[in-house]
Amino acid sequence: MKIAIIGTGHVGLISGVCFAELGNKVLCIDNDEEKILNLKNGKLPIFEPGLQELLDKNKPRLTFTTSIKEGIQEANIIFICVGTPPKPSGDADLSTVESVTIQIAKSMHDYKLVVEKSTVPVRTGVKIKQLMEGKVKSGLSFDVASNPEFLREGAAIYDFMHPDRIVIGVETVRAKKILTELYKPIKAPILVTDIESAELIKHASNSFLATKISFINAIAKICEQAGANIEQVARGIGLDHRIGPEFLQAGIGFGGFCFPKDLRAFRKIAEKLGCEFSLLHEVEKINESMKKLFVTKVEEALWNLSNKTIGILGLAFKPDTEDMRYAPSIDIIQMLQKEGAKIRAYDPQAMPVAKNILKDIEYCKGPYEVAEGADCLCILTEWEEFKGLDLDRIKSFLKSPVIIDGRNIFEKEKMLKLGFTYYGIGR
Ligand code: UGA
Repeated sequence: MKIAIIGTGHVGLISGVCFAELGNKVLCIDNDEEKILNLKNGKLPIFEPGLQELLDKNKPRLTFTTSIKEGIQEANIIFICVGTPPKPSGDADLSTVESVTIQIAKSMHDYKLVVEKSTVPVRTGVKIKQLMEGKVKSGLSFDVASNPEFLREGAAIYDFMHPDRIVIGVETVRAKKILTELYKPIKAPILVTDIESAELIKHASNSFLATKISFINAIAKICEQAGANIEQVARGIGLDHRIGPEFLQAGIGFGGFCFPKDLRAFRKIAEKLGCEFSLLHEVEKINESMKKLFVTKVEEALWNLSNKTIGILGLAFKPDTEDMRYAPSIDIIQMLQKEGAKIRAYDPQAMPVAKNILKDIEYCKGPYEVAEGADCLCILTEWEEFKGLDLDRIKSFLKSPVIIDGRNIFEKEKMLKLGFTYYGIGR
């Protein structure tokens, strides 16, 4: 099939490259000229494991352009993958979705299936359809569909190729036929729904996952007070197949560009529909409290933070990405700096991005350099590299052997045996 993807962010670019891998001809469109130029030269704008190889492999089936007008001519399916960032109110900003829709409507000369893949509030599909109806040349037909994407950063290619489910929200047989045909090579159940339900499935899924994380973090706090161990509790809960073991990892909370913004946007759209969803407000509150809890632990370990040197391992919101958007590390580091602490940090991928966000930090070449002369070491992202550290060596570099592990990557007993003063979350 011939596909146009508008927006080469994480979802757009991965979807484009993966659709090409499935044998389709894909045109990736973005108004960022530098990004498109780089992509034409085989240079990726993001770090995602395996993406470079897949891009190189599928070059003959991939084209990059800045023009929607040119880009969509040959395509029969157009995926809208542009950003839907939060407004100060928390509502999703759909202005790019709107402008892209207008450009599609004005540029098309034959039938197009327009698919929203960006995360959008329910009823966006209706708005897209109404907008297009008023702009397309008479006699031309089109369909609108919703096909939310569930891939995770860092595991994006695997998730795209091996999803738990594919959700297709349609209102015509023609749209259903095209999309089921497109996804045929992927072995996953296809759930066909109406457009509104498909849109809701995405916001509801992300909100449910975020709720699961805040739930386990709230339990972690109780564990600390009661002398229980969150890992044992999480295992005990997760063995119930109705609950499941995933997304029960307690820590400093969720970040990234999806959960925080989607929770707020979902709460806003629910409110507009007259259905207050205050549970999600609690989820956010618990998430914020985890960062404060972490800073309290640092204070407990070091007492006054003024002029203390704190080593930070991990800045990205999660491993295998350089993404710093809404990373818990940002708030935590700023809280520590406010108390007068000096920060030295290392992240395997996120440092170039972090340098634009976090100031007055000494960025280091590796974990051992971070530890050198530091009053304590804080783990904020669970990169594999940190799990395999030579802890005796780390201890010999630290001014005092204190580790505050915001992701519970080390075993408490082992750390105590090695002579560390060790703090985890919920144990
Ligand atoms: C999330 C969803 O998992 C994807 O299904 C969805 O497609 C995506 O948002 C999106 O809407 O685009 P992502 O934000 O890439 O994916 O990352 P996750 O792996 O879900 O992690 C999100 C945050 O939760 C991270 O900060 C992670 O550290 C935290 N987390 C995750 C926990 O604190 N505990 C857990 O048990 C799991």
